[in-house]
Amino acid sequence: MKWHKALNTVQIPADGSIKTISVAGKQVCIINNENKIVATQSTCPHAGGHFSGGWCKNGNLVCPIHRYEYNLRTGRGADGQGDYINIYPTELREDGLYIGFEESWWSKLWG
Ligand code: FES
Repeated sequence: MKWHKALNTVQIPADGSIKTISVAGKQVCIINNENKIVATQSTCPHAGGHFSGGWCKNGNLVCPIHRYEYNLRTGRGADGQGDYINIYPTELREDGLYIGFEESWWSKLWG
């Protein structure tokens, strides 16, 4: 796991909002749901809708395009969808928010 600084503390989205940022070349949505910060992939696996216009409902992220829902803890799609989104580990440190990405075997070899 490699940790990357994503945001300064003051840039962390307010409760109920979603912000899209780029971290280590990856587009990520930072979601503040009831003051819990979650980092997810930025696009919907259903048809590529962008989560930045979405919202949270009952612990799920709702895609604004066709309203598919994804659990913010597990990434699983709602019953019947058969899909999931990537949830990235986050850590609030003194100087801001960090996101962890799994390292692939080739990045370990070639840095
Ligand atoms: S693109 Fe997200 S639900 Fe269809």
